[in-house]
Amino acid sequence: MKITVCGKGGCGKSTVTTLLAKELARMEKRVLVVDSDESNFGLHRQLGVELPRDFTEYFGGKDKAFKTMMTSGILDSMKLSAFAKKFFSEDFTMADIPEEYYSEKGGVKLMSSGKIHKANEGCACTMNSILEQFVAHLTLAEDEIALLDMEAGVEHFGRGTDNSVDGILMIVDPSFESLRLSAKIADLSTSIGKPIWFCLNKVTEEAAQMMEEEVGKHGAIIGRMPLDHDLALAGLTGTELQMTIAPVREMAQFLIH
Ligand SMILES: Nc1ncnc2c1ncn2[C@@H]1O[C@H](COP(=O)(O)OP(=O)(O)OP(=O)(O)O)[C@@H](O)[C@H]1O
Ligand SMILES: [Mg+2]
Repeated sequence: MKITVCGKGGCGKSTVTTLLAKELARMEKRVLVVDSDESNFGLHRQLGVELPRDFTEYFGGKDKAFKTMMTSGILDSMKLSAFAKKFFSEDFTMADIPEEYYSEKGGVKLMSSGKIHKANEGCACTMNSILEQFVAHLTLAEDEIALLDMEAGVEHFGRGTDNSVDGILMIVDPSFESLRLSAKIADLSTSIGKPIWFCLNKVTEEAAQMMEEEVGKHGAIIGRMPLDHDLALAGLTGTELQMTIAPVREMAQFLIH
């Protein structure tokens, strides 16, 4: 099962991805977390592992992969399949990911599509295209689950990364922007035939009812995470998330059944 975790900036995508991954591992699942966000460097710390080498390096690095992308005709034709043949000619399993491209702890593997490391190094298109094709070719066993911690916003829908997943989990924080985005993401998910589930996050007593009503119009709410002091503190100090949280366990159970 492959699941996109998405939402607006700072809503809690990486936090929920981490907690879910650890919970699923406790449920005997083999979990792959794909850091699909070129800008942020916090996810590996939440998981308590080192940041793995950019997966773009597997294809010779950003410059080489970009040239391959240019010569494959992808930019002219926008046909991603042409690109796919260049980089993935067959299915790719979790076991096929070379050791230097993942970090692992407690049954959770983390890989990273790539980061922006320095100024003027170019846009994130190359790594995002590799990611899109990686997800399309990733083949998982029954007891394996992949969580894609996406960059904020909806560009991944535009690129087609979500075409190959089994469902979309949107994290919604108590903000007008998130409530609006829940309608948009529900529409985008439905348009590609993918189920959309919502996880309300940082829920306070005052915000709960409005969040339930607004988000509930667009799909099933499968998780409700309170605004939590320990999570906020861990976010400040950049420490590993080791707590178990009841709503996360319920979401994990929902996703695997
Ligand atoms: N339920 C919660 N209670 C308190 N703080 C939370 C909660 N969920 C997330 N946070 C905090 O909110 C901040 C943003 O969380 P996180 O980094 O997971 O969001 P994100 O959506 O991945 O952000 P980005 O868009 O930058 O990738 C962090 O400091 C995190 O600790
Ligand atoms: Mg994040």
